[in-house]
Amino acid sequence: MNTIKIIDFPIIQDSRGDLSFIENNDHIPFAIKRVYYLYNVPANVSRGGHAHKKLQQVLVAMSGSFDVSLDDGSDKQMVTLNSPAQGLLINHPMWRELKNFSSDAVCVVLASELYTEDDYYRDYDNFLAHVRNA
Ligand code: TYD
Repeated sequence: MNTIKIIDFPIIQDSRGDLSFIENNDHIPFAIKRVYYLYNVPANVSRGGHAHKKLQQVLVAMSGSFDVSLDDGSDKQMVTLNSPAQGLLINHPMWRELKNFSSDAVCVVLASELYTEDDYYRDYDNFLAHVRNA
């Protein structure tokens, strides 16, 4: 499987609760150009179902939990995100699906590029053709 990485963010704990922070370059290996988030996702639906060409992303379960299935064209892997102090780095073209959202789940995505539809593989066979020729 192409590299995915779990990034542990710092946690500052005291009697008032926990504080985590995320800084460019230190915790995230790219400059963050965009932040988007998924919430109010029904329990029985999946999101994603695409891959990106150039985009690098870090996914964080800011609240609740969800599963991320990852497929680099050769291998498949499932990761459960359930902590606001951890991020999942995806920095290779990787077909992904997000599912099993808890009712309180908020998935925040830190992204290396602005949104452009041109960066998407929305067709699995196109994605496979790309990664197998890369
Ligand atoms: P999409 O990436 O397909 O969502 P998901 O991966 O969660 O299933 O995006 C859904 C719609 O939202 C699509 O019409 C594109 C639009 N969109 C933006 O306009 N800006 C963004 O930053 C993102 C991520 C999506």
